Amino acid sequence: MKKLSVLLLLITPFVLQFCSSSKKAAKAKEPKITYTANVQPIMVANCTPCHFPPKGNKKAFDNYLAVKTNIDSMIIRIQKNPGEKGFMPFKHPKLSDSTINVFVKWKNDGLLEN
Ligand code: HEC
Repeated sequence: MKKLSVLLLLITPFVLQFCSSSKKAAKAKEPKITYTANVQPIMVANCTPCHFPPKGNKKAFDNYLAVKTNIDSMIIRIQKNPGEKGFMPFKHPKLSDSTINVFVKWKNDGLLEN
């Protein structure tokens, strides 16, 4: 029993250190979401043609500033379910959770352009 407690005393700091340093490493590595790299491709894939003039005649979301300015109503609408009033993308299936999360994380990361 004594041997076991000595052993635990010896290994605990190493285990703890491993846990906290791997957490830090994961956080540092995770890149920030940007408009150009992450958000724009999703918009082009899911919000065209309606929000991309000249083909689309709905509110234009074809540039950084327009998307940034409307991010709150976008997040509200893409989180709704098909059939609910205001759901986007209009008449299309709901975006996947991971895609929706890109918009949420983009906002949390500070709405970076690049
Ligand atoms: C098939 C066409 C179509 C697609 C695709 C589409 N929308 Fe829309 N969108 C509309 C229409 C129609 C309206 C206006 C009616 C309304 O407000 O619900 C609208 C309105 C909006 C508004 C409110 C604009 C305002 O006036 O303030 C937002 C925000 C929005 N859409 C976001 C999106 C996002 C984000 C996507 C892509 C993930 C998307 N929409 C895809 C047709 C579309």
